[in-house]
Amino acid sequence: MPLRMALRRDAVAMFATAVLAASCDQGEPTNTREEGPPLRLIGASVGVGRPLPANGDVELVFDRLILPVTATRQSVAIVDGEGGQGLPAVGYDPLRRRITLANPEHDGKAWLTPGQPYRVVLGIADGEAILGGLRAIDGEKIRKDSPRQVGFIAAPSTPREAPLAADYCRDVAPVLAAKCVSCHGGERTEAGLDLSNAEGIRATAIDHIAHASIRSGSVTLPSNPDRHFGSDMAIIDRESPGTSYLVYKVLVDPVSDAPSTSTCGVLAARPSWSLPEDERLRLRDRISAHGVATPLLSRDETSVIADWIAAGASLATCENCAPK
Ligand code: HEC
Repeated sequence: MPLRMALRRDAVAMFATAVLAASCDQGEPTNTREEGPPLRLIGASVGVGRPLPANGDVELVFDRLILPVTATRQSVAIVDGEGGQGLPAVGYDPLRRRITLANPEHDGKAWLTPGQPYRVVLGIADGEAILGGLRAIDGEKIRKDSPRQVGFIAAPSTPREAPLAADYCRDVAPVLAAKCVSCHGGERTEAGLDLSNAEGIRATAIDHIAHASIRSGSVTLPSNPDRHFGSDMAIIDRESPGTSYLVYKVLVDPVSDAPSTSTCGVLAARPSWSLPEDERLRLRDRISAHGVATPLLSRDETSVIADWIAAGASLATCENCAPK
């Protein structure tokens, strides 16, 4: 898609106002619960001396879990040298606490113009408003001394490797069979959730609001932003994978570093991830853990499940991989 078409100048004025207004904000905590520290940007795939191929993805890594409902274009903008704002696809990976800005067409082609300067600008949440700025899961905003802008130059496109996708039959079904199906499948379907096969997942998880998720019951945003964390979350949300309840349910349980014990298939090597223990406990204030004595999943198994959901949770009828 040509860059010019991806730009919408009218949006820039709006965004600039939000940033300006936010700079006068005193950054008071928005609720009274014991809170974590403010949110901080700790890494970016772009920057000075780090150009981005015109068909590449901008990756931003944060120190805390982000309130998924705030990981949107209203919170993270990309602006070109003339002040035009792009409309990228915004993705959020809770395991790695990473926001990705990518070509909205998802076709691997250029969406930036080589040689042009760009800036990624983080919106600062204003008061209790949900839209217009990033927040951590407890409602905390971006800290004052966190970088809020990252400038970079677009470089010529480079060939993109197809991302390593977790395959349902090879990677995911064996883990679910070994670790989840004793309670979520067959005779016993705790919380009505059947993870034993593609049919069960389609019928009880994909686009099914989790029982444990708060129901908003109205389109009005609750005044307390952290309540919004779990509103009407689907167990698996294919449109917005970073909002899938199941991902948080496995993230909130302790994980082991033991090698995977799943029974068939080969787990693709995954980049490792870790969640600081204090942040996991803050997540547990919002989503109940399974409360099992020993970790259900290993770190690798957790990322297989989360990465499969991030890639669209494709399903298939598996013939050669019978659940144990
Ligand atoms: C020992 C039994 C047991 C095992 C094993 C188990 N679960 Fe659960 N699960 C439960 C129970 C009981 C609930 C309902 C209470 C709760 O939300 O914690 C539940 C709830 C859930 C929910 C929320 C459903 C809803 O609608 O709110 C999800 C998602 C879930 N489990 C995923 C998994 C996954 C993924 C695995 C495998 C890694 C797994 N569970 C393994 C017992 C189990």
